[in-house]
Amino acid sequence: MASVTGLDGVVAAETELSLVDGQNGYLVYRGYEAKELALKMSFEEVAYLLWHGELPSAEAINAFKKQWVDHRAIPTELKAVLDLLPKESEMMSVLRTAISVLGTCTRQESAWPPQFEHILANTALLPTIIAYHYRRSQGLQPVEPDPQLDHVANYLYMLTGSKPQYVHVKVLTAYFILAMEHGMNASTFAGRVVLSTQSDITSALCASIGAMKGPLHGGAPSEVLQMLDEIGTKEQAEAWLREELGAGRKLMGFGHRIYKTSDPRAEALRQLMQELASEDPWFDLAVHVEKVAVELLREYKPGRNLYVNVEFYAAAVMRAIALPTSLFTPSFTLSRIVGWTAHLLEQAGCNRIFRPQSVYVGELPASLLNRP
Ligand SMILES: CC(C)(COP(=O)(O)OP(=O)(O)OC[C@H]1O[C@@H](n2cnc3c(N)ncnc32)[C@H](O)[C@@H]1OP(=O)(O)O)[C@@H](O)C(=O)NCCC(=O)NCCS
Repeated sequence: MASVTGLDGVVAAETELSLVDGQNGYLVYRGYEAKELALKMSFEEVAYLLWHGELPSAEAINAFKKQWVDHRAIPTELKAVLDLLPKESEMMSVLRTAISVLGTCTRQESAWPPQFEHILANTALLPTIIAYHYRRSQGLQPVEPDPQLDHVANYLYMLTGSKPQYVHVKVLTAYFILAMEHGMNASTFAGRVVLSTQSDITSALCASIGAMKGPLHGGAPSEVLQMLDEIGTKEQAEAWLREELGAGRKLMGFGHRIYKTSDPRAEALRQLMQELASEDPWFDLAVHVEKVAVELLREYKPGRNLYVNVEFYAAAVMRAIALPTSLFTPSFTLSRIVGWTAHLLEQAGCNRIFRPQSVYVGELPASLLNRP
C-alpha cells in the first residue's frame, strides 16, 4: 500500500462550503466568489451564508446580529479562570484553555449533534476573550463589548478602547472574510476528525485551535513582518532572500499545498492595500519582496509553483491597522472559527468516523517471519 505523506491529494470529505481551485486561483463560498463577498458583505452576513447556506434577508440579519450580541460577554466562571492565567501566556494557548472552560461551564460537552446556539456562543465570544487577555497582559482595564458595533468594529474597539476608523474596519473585515473558510486545511480537518467520533464541539474546537497555532498554518503572518523588518530596504531584498533559500529555509508567506498559482486571497488583499497604503514605504517594500521572492523561488525550486499566499498580505493588513504581532494568529482564528463550525455542522450531518490506515515499515518478530 502506497503512503501519502501529509495526505497530499487525498479527498477526505465532500463539502458544500467552499471550492478552493488551486490551478485557476479562485475561492468560492457556497456559490459566491469569496473576494466579492469580502468587499461587499459584513462578517456576520458571510458567517450566516456559511452556516445556513444562503445570504440573509435584511430582516434575518438584524435578528441574527441581536442574537450574536447576546453572546459577547465573558461568563463569570471563565473570567475567573482567565484571571488566574499568567499575564504573559501565549494567546493561542489562552484561547484553547478558554474555549475548553466555556464548553464545560455552559454544558456544551455532552451535546450531540452540535447545537447552533453553542456555535454562535463560541464565535461571538472569541474576540472578547482575545481583547480581555490582551489588555490584561498590557496592564490595562478590560473594555466591555459595545452592542451598537458589529463584530469586527467591536473587536477593534475592545482592543483599543476607542471607536475604530471606518477604513480599518473595512480592510480587517475583508481579510476576515477571505480567511473564514478554506476547505480541508489542517485545523478544519483536525476539528472534523474529533467531531467524527461523536465528540462535542468544544473538543473539536480545541483541536482546531491547536492545529492553527503552528507556524506552518496560522503563525506565518508575524514571521512575514519579521522577514520584512530584517530585509529592511528594496536594495537588500534579493541578497537576503538568496541567503535564506540557499540555506534551505522556507520563506514565510509563500507556497501553498493547494494553490499552484497566486493565492486569490493574497491578490484581493494586495489590491485593497494598494488603495489604502500606496504611499507607505513598508507596503512598497512588501510588493517588491513578493516580486523578487517569486522569481527566486522559480530559480531555487523549479517546478514547485511557489507563489505568495494569504498570510503575506494578511501581515500587511494587520500592520496597517497597528495590531500587535502577538494578535495575528488569534485574529485569524476568530475568523476561521466560522469555517470550522460550518464544517462541524456538515460533518455531523453525514457522520462517519475518520479512520485512515498506516503502513508498517518497522521490524517484524522472527516468529512471524518464520511462520509458514
Ligand atoms: C504552506 C506550506 C506548509 C505547504 O507545504 P507543502 O504543501 O507540504 O509543501 P512542501 O513543504 O512539501 O514544499 C514543496 C517544495 O517546495 C518548497 N517550499 C514550499 N514552500 C516554500 C517556501 N515558502 N519557501 C521556500 N521553499 C518552499 C519546499 O522546500 C519543498 O522543496 P523540495 O521539493 O525541494 O523539498 C509551505 O509552502 C510552507 O511552509 N510555506 C511557508 C509557511 C506559510 O507561508 N504558511 C502559510 C500557509 S497559508
